[in-house]
Formats: sequence, structure tokens, C-alpha cells
Amino acid sequence: MSHRVSAGFVFFVLSCAIVIAQERSGTTATQRIPQFENDSVKVWKSVIVPNGPLTLHRHDHGRTIVVLAGGDLKVVKESGETTVMHWETGKAYWLPPDPPGEMHKDVNDTGKTIEVMVVEMKAPPASAAVDRRPAVLPDGPGKSAVLKVCSECHAPEIVAAASRTRDDWARTLGDMAQYGAQGTEEDFTQILEYLTKYFSKIDALKDRLIF
Ligand code: HEC
Repeated sequence: MSHRVSAGFVFFVLSCAIVIAQERSGTTATQRIPQFENDSVKVWKSVIVPNGPLTLHRHDHGRTIVVLAGGDLKVVKESGETTVMHWETGKAYWLPPDPPGEMHKDVNDTGKTIEVMVVEMKAPPASAAVDRRPAVLPDGPGKSAVLKVCSECHAPEIVAAASRTRDDWARTLGDMAQYGAQGTEEDFTQILEYLTKYFSKIDALKDRLIF
């Protein structure tokens, strides 16, 4: 009697093992599993099983995708236009908001389940957009000194977020010098003039008040 095991039998056993393993892992349907939501973000886990597309939808906001189980995911627009996103396990990706009116579905035809955590941004509160100076430094005397001395530890544009009196700027410069900002006295004088001119609080009245 032959004890040779046929290749067909081995394949049968392996197939059973794979089916069992898939069932053990618990998720057999494409789904979104909500995680949490607050004023800033909405977070959910997307499980996209092979041949179980996420039906037509769109995203109004940008999303960070953290890939738990990677793969190539096809994004199919209503028009039929298809792009492939290559997602690596353990990496994160940014997806900008979809253009208005454009719908798509996500199709996984890789044979393996793709799992991602999606962190969707919400619109910032209106107040955040108000009263913000553009983060640019206007050209003027002293700008080069700012770029030279104030770029060491943070973006020099940090100054554009503030408006201060000359005294308060002098105090800020003192703080920065303490942190280790290095420049000549000439540099610091020029910087103080520059900041007072372009990022000042109009506080003239206060200087004229006599208490
Ligand atoms: C040696 C490192 C260093 C250099 C150089 C430096 N800074 Fe800073 N700066 C810091 C650190 C650290 C903070 C954050 C600490 C804090 O918030 O008080 C900071 C924060 C600031 C802030 C925000 C906090 C505040 O006081 O409003 C401003 C404005 C600022 N720096 C301006 C400047 C200017 C102007 C220069 C150039 C003269 C400069 N910095 C150079 C280290 C530095």
C-alpha cells in the first residue's frame, strides 16, 4: 500500500487552514468601526476585505490614514477613473478633501484584508481664522538680522503671530538671549527696531497717560 500523500490532498488541508484562520480573525465583511469623535477629529477603523468594496462616498475633510494592514487599494471614481493607493503597514498617509461632488468607492482586489485607522479633520472653529497675520516677514531694515539671529531654534516667522510694544519686544529679546540667541548688539538693536515697526501694538496713548 502506498503512503504517498497526494498534492491535491495537501492543498485541500491548507485551504481549510486558511479559511479557519480567516474566520478566527473575526472580520469577514468590509466595515467602518467608529473609535471616537470630538470637536477636532472623527476617528474610525476601516476594514476592507477582498472583493468587498466600500460603497460610493466622499470626504469633505482631509484625513490621516494610519495603515494597520497594508496593501494596494483601488479608488474608483463614479466616472470609472481608477487610482491605486499603495499603503505600507505601519506607515501614515495624508489624503486631502475630495473635490465637491466627486464620489468614489474603495476596492480591494489584492486577496488580503486591508485595515486602516482614519483620522478625519473637522473644520477649524471660525474664530481660528480671524485676526491672524500672515506668517510672513515684511521686507525692511532689520529683517536680515531677524533671519540670522532668530532662525536658530524656531521659524523666525514666530514673531508674526505677536504684536507688542517696544518694551515687550525688548523683554522677548531678553528672554531669547537667555535661551541662547546669539547676535551682536547691533543685531539686537536692528531686530528691536524691526519688530517694533512691523509687529507693534499701537500703545501711544498709554505712554502719554500720567497716573
Ligand atoms: C537659542 C534658541 C532661540 C533663539 C535663537 C530664538 N528663540 Fe525665540 N524661542 C525659543 C524658545 C525655547 C521658545 C519657546 C519658549 C517660550 O514659549 O517662552 C521661543 C519662543 C519665541 C516666541 C514665542 C513666545 C513669546 O515670547 O511670545 C517668540 C515671539 C520668539 N521666540 C521670538 C524670537 C526672536 C525675535 C528671536 C531672535 C532675536 C528668537 N526668538 C530667537 C528659543 C529661541
